[in-house]
Amino acid sequence: MKPDPNRRDILRNAAVLAAATATVSVPGSLLVLSVSANDEKEPEVTATEDLMREHGVIRRALLVYFETAPKLRQNPASVDPAALRQTAQLFRTFGEDYHERMLEEQHIFPLVRKQGGELERYADILTAQHKRGREITDYILAITNGSKISAAHAEPLAKVFETFVLMYENHAAREDTIIFPAWKKNFSNKQLDEISDQFEEIEHKMFGKDGFEDAEKKISNIESALGFADLAQFTPPPPKV
Ligand SMILES: [Fe+2]
Ligand SMILES: [Fe+2]
Repeated sequence: MKPDPNRRDILRNAAVLAAATATVSVPGSLLVLSVSANDEKEPEVTATEDLMREHGVIRRALLVYFETAPKLRQNPASVDPAALRQTAQLFRTFGEDYHERMLEEQHIFPLVRKQGGELERYADILTAQHKRGREITDYILAITNGSKISAAHAEPLAKVFETFVLMYENHAAREDTIIFPAWKKNFSNKQLDEISDQFEEIEHKMFGKDGFEDAEKKISNIESALGFADLAQFTPPPPKV
């Protein structure tokens, strides 16, 4: 039987297998899990976890740009523009139109801005960076619209990739560690649950029921096409002493 990659189904099957109720002790730990047939629901993805795993997809797109920059300098003809274009399209739909516009700019930044001081400044800078990012995505989409990347475009595109990656890695890291925690403080756990549901509804409206899963699949396919699929290739050799 073909394995079903859907997490909801895996959890549902696990719960069914557990029949009525079972207690699972994990050897060597104090953890005791009680699984019941009534606990079939997928564990909730919290609002901040949702935003941060979206950053995971965005970061993987940034890594595609990062890995491509030296290749563009060495041999632009070897770079497949279609894969870069797909990366920019994913960045546009999932990163910019959904994560930035629908979640951060609508829900996160307005509240954080109201908290004043340094946070207000952060909200302004992060918004300006979203705008610059969209200009950069427009540029990448335009340059990758042919069958080849010309030698004349190779160096400017490589430079754009490097500066964009540096900006957005800083951007996402500050959001993860400063902005999202500050935003979260405005709510009780119950309110956060409701906001998680709202975020999920927005995701469903924009992409159907598996927005995140589909975006993850898309970036996986791009990584495969470019030879970046095997994670082990990124493990460096031990340092020489
Ligand atoms: Fe952002
Ligand atoms: Fe973000």
